[in-house]
Amino acid sequence: MNRRWMAILGLALVTATAGAAAVPSVEQDPKPAAQNAATGWQLPPDADETTNPLTADPKVIATGKSVFKDKCERCHGPGGVGDGPDADPDHRDDMDLTNAERAEGNSDGAMFYKVWNGRKKPKMPAFNKELTKDQVWAVVTYAKTLRKAQ
Ligand code: HEC
Repeated sequence: MNRRWMAILGLALVTATAGAAAVPSVEQDPKPAAQNAATGWQLPPDADETTNPLTADPKVIATGKSVFKDKCERCHGPGGVGDGPDADPDHRDDMDLTNAERAEGNSDGAMFYKVWNGRKKPKMPAFNKELTKDQVWAVVTYAKTLRKAQ
């Protein structure tokens, strides 16, 4: 191989390497909005790691309480036990937000996505249009205050 060919080959190699580096690696979407088929809730796989950006101070709790009264009480009832006028009578247990045993499956992140995305059956509306993320975090913070001590 003469010098000229070596130079061309070298250039080709450099170009190829640079080209490869410039192309972003194709990664799989790390957060597919996975359908949680077992429960009917739409939660991303990392829902539990999503942390509440708000502090449970009196102001946040007061905001959460008024959102709850406005949007949630008709089904979940004033105390959160699932006895509102629009409650699904066959699913009162699943709607009981005070049940400490159900707290385990309801990290702040899981609760946020349940409220944000809703579910079809038993029906709970998605609130991603009528509430802001901060309002949802506030109502999650408030709903946790309704839990009975374990
Ligand atoms: C139209 C009635 C309705 C409204 C309004 C409603 N929910 Fe629900 N909610 C339900 C039903 C039904 C379930 C139970 C679904 C199931 O079987 O898991 C539920 C379940 C939940 C759960 C999960 C409970 C658990 O232990 O899995 C949370 C958290 C929740 N609701 C919060 C809220 C909040 C907060 C609001 C207001 C922003 C709200 N809901 C408004 C009907 C409603």
